[in-house]
Amino acid sequence: MSDSNITKVSEGLRKPEGWTPPSRPDPQGCEMCRAPVEAEFIEPVFWNGKPSFGTGRWMFAPICPRCQKSKDDEAKEEQEEKQAQERSRKIQELISQAGFKKIHEVMTLDNFAPLFCAETFFEIQKAWDAGKNIFITGPTGVGKTHLSVGLLKNFISSTAQRGLIRNVAEFMLDIRQAIKTHKDADLLNEVSSADALVLDDLGVERPTPTALETLYLLIDRWHNDCKGRLIITTNYDLREISGRLHDRIASRITGMSELFRLDGQDRRMLLRLRPGNADKEA
Ligand SMILES: Nc1ncnc2c1ncn2[C@@H]1O[C@H](COP(=O)(O)OP(=O)(O)OP(=O)(O)O)[C@@H](O)[C@H]1O
Ligand SMILES: [Mg+2]
Ligand SMILES: [Zn+2]
Repeated sequence: MSDSNITKVSEGLRKPEGWTPPSRPDPQGCEMCRAPVEAEFIEPVFWNGKPSFGTGRWMFAPICPRCQKSKDDEAKEEQEEKQAQERSRKIQELISQAGFKKIHEVMTLDNFAPLFCAETFFEIQKAWDAGKNIFITGPTGVGKTHLSVGLLKNFISSTAQRGLIRNVAEFMLDIRQAIKTHKDADLLNEVSSADALVLDDLGVERPTPTALETLYLLIDRWHNDCKGRLIITTNYDLREISGRLHDRIASRITGMSELFRLDGQDRRMLLRLRPGNADKEA
């Protein structure tokens, strides 16, 4: 466009001198509360001294600012409630897909009484909250599984991320089955892609060499990806794990985890020997 054309256009758009807007109309009633709503003037676009079609008008909002605000607040609340419902539905789904068993239902952090292991319990929680991997060894019945289940449940419900628990002996059987149907890679991917994983009772089983290889690959993948939030529970120490499984497995676990020992009395025995049960035991 040439300079003279630009000048013409800008002159055409100029507001004529002495132009005044049409007088303000009376307020209209709010459609919701009937309170008066003042008209708002829409600035005109001038063309050759006149407002161009459809501009330079007084307009009314259908509802007053107060009603508009409460309508917006209501919509926001509704949206937030929908999001909360969606999140809680997702958490329920994640919990149901995590692999918890009936016996795990009652195991929560709230009902974990760290009677014999207060300090270790606190340290484990701290490491878990920091996203570390955790290796828990200890004798039978001291709460290794209970604590891990509680941590995993908390993880899922506070992050809405995918958590899994696998009993290692059962997992070995699954692997053997998957190897037969050439689905072992899928199984490995499914488990190693979890955001948090509990491998419960490592070392009880004596796996076949191929199942052991898959377990090694899982630990190795977790190790190589520098992932956190793996809990391993076991009755064995790492030297024994090395002998029962493989030193490469024990080495990776040592390298990537915080190591803990839960001690205390066998809670299963204690539960049986409560005063109320003592007579029956006798
Ligand atoms: N500190 C605790 N507070 C409340 N209940 C506990 C506690 N520790 C263990 N229990 C209960 O005792 C029983 C045994 O606990 P759990 O299964 O966690 O033991 P474990 O250490 O995993 O044993 P194992 O080595 O045999 O697998 C469960 O019913 C569990 O809920
Ligand atoms: Mg256990
Ligand atoms: Zn109103």
